[in-house]
Amino acid sequence: MLDVAVLISGRGSNLQALIDACAQPDFPARIVAVISNNPGAGGLERAKAANIPTAVVNHRDFEDRESFENAVDEELKNFKAKFICLAGFMRILDGRFVNRWKDRILNIHPSLLPSFKGLHTQERALEAGVRFTGCTVHIVRPEMDDGPIILQAALAVDPEDDADNLSAKVLELEHIIYPEALKLIALGRVSISGNKAIIDKATYPDKGLISPDPV
Ligand code: GAR
Repeated sequence: MLDVAVLISGRGSNLQALIDACAQPDFPARIVAVISNNPGAGGLERAKAANIPTAVVNHRDFEDRESFENAVDEELKNFKAKFICLAGFMRILDGRFVNRWKDRILNIHPSLLPSFKGLHTQERALEAGVRFTGCTVHIVRPEMDDGPIILQAALAVDPEDDADNLSAKVLELEHIIYPEALKLIALGRVSISGNKAIIDKATYPDKGLISPDPV
């Protein structure tokens, strides 16, 4: 069983998807804590409703990134977390923290990385006139929205789409692939080789490739 802490900053719909997946019998991970840098994050209520311990480490209470991250690290130790899922955690983690947790931090991002790192991804995707958009679950490296890709899910852009409804469609895919990616990792089916993640071939024997089928 993999003991996971989920770091959030906001509404926590991806957190909810992880909570729901962890509630399934045989799911190989459990959430030992939800930590937010934002005391008003809606996701804290979702955690409480699921009886998951929470902690707030408000970045505004710290004079620099390092002391904020050391405080987060303390909480992770208190809760005996072995793995971190970033779920809408909107603080950049610096290299020291990321290297301390090397290959043990997962992130979800609402674009087909390496395109459209950063914020306002669907607005920028529409602006660029792309035909497909989607989301990516990846291992975190010190550069923002960078690191070995575990799973992606894509959808075709409809000419009628605006950024809001495209974001909503992508979010539905996020809720499918994030638990699936965590499951693969917790089952030990992912190995990291340089900047790539390799998924055990036996995982998707019929397809040969990764598919974002629902768990
Ligand atoms: C999600 O769309 C997630 O992919 C994005 O923030 C949103 C959080 O929503 N994360 C990033 O942009 C990270 N670079 P949620 O709080 O409902 O899960």
